[in-house]
Amino acid sequence: MKIIAIANQKGGVGKTTTAVNLSACLAELGKRVLVIDLDPQANATTALGLTPDADVNLYHPLVEDTPVEEQIRETHLENLFLLPAALQLAGVEVVLAQQGNHHSRLKEVLAPLTELDQLDYVIMDSPPSLGILMTSALATADDLLVPVQCEFFGIQALAGIYQEVLASMQEAGLAHARLEGIILTMYDGRTRLARSVIEEVRSHFPKETYKTIIPRTVRLGEAPSHCKTIIEYDPAGVGAFAYRALADEFIQRRREYRVT
Ligand SMILES: Nc1ncnc2c1ncn2[C@@H]1O[C@H](COP(=O)(O)OP(=O)(O)OP(=O)(O)O)[C@@H](O)[C@H]1O
Ligand SMILES: [Mg+2]
Repeated sequence: MKIIAIANQKGGVGKTTTAVNLSACLAELGKRVLVIDLDPQANATTALGLTPDADVNLYHPLVEDTPVEEQIRETHLENLFLLPAALQLAGVEVVLAQQGNHHSRLKEVLAPLTELDQLDYVIMDSPPSLGILMTSALATADDLLVPVQCEFFGIQALAGIYQEVLASMQEAGLAHARLEGIILTMYDGRTRLARSVIEEVRSHFPKETYKTIIPRTVRLGEAPSHCKTIIEYDPAGVGAFAYRALADEFIQRRREYRVT
């Protein structure tokens, strides 16, 4: 079981869309995937068709020692499971901040899942802030995936999470995640800026940048309002095509690195 954090402190860059749709496409390929919604906004929870519930979210395992397995729900897609979020999860920031071990707490909570060994991937969707929930995701993950919007500030955000946040956590021995991949999102081929952002990201991170680029499409934006993933909402559209290609590339890259 590999734990993957999808993170970027910048808001609205496609973290949740990527967490939900990459996971759905991996599940479609037969991988057993658990999405952990670490964002109190609970967007991934809603997009996967569940209603945020104050009694079912990570707050309880993190703060009250409830077994994590009890908080996992099935989704309507085969092989795809969800540990939902709810607004209450925001309370974790305050409670854990008072405890010395807050960075290792999430890892401890997820340890039984590693032992059970029934999942291929745990994919965490993190909130757009540098708070404890986001840094806990980095501290717990084996791999970090950073969605970068094909816009000017996209590069700045990438530099921030990589050079400041991840590097300083690694130096302090708090994180061991590698930057496995950068995913370019919301690409609009009509703008020269989008193309120059792609070139710049690729020139700085030739190995890390995924070849698959996620286009901006109306359907990807609409799917969550129907509580559906893109492979259910518009299975033959360009959004589904892109996320299926991303899932293929995700698996292929892991074969090349000889990690599962
Ligand atoms: N490729 C895309 N094409 C069109 N719309 C998209 C695309 N990706 C995401 N969106 C839409 O853009 C908005 C932001 O995307 P998303 O919620 O995935 O970003 P996020 O990084 O998770 O945001 P936050 O930081 O608030 O958690 C959403 O309304 C989403 O539906
Ligand atoms: Mg989000």
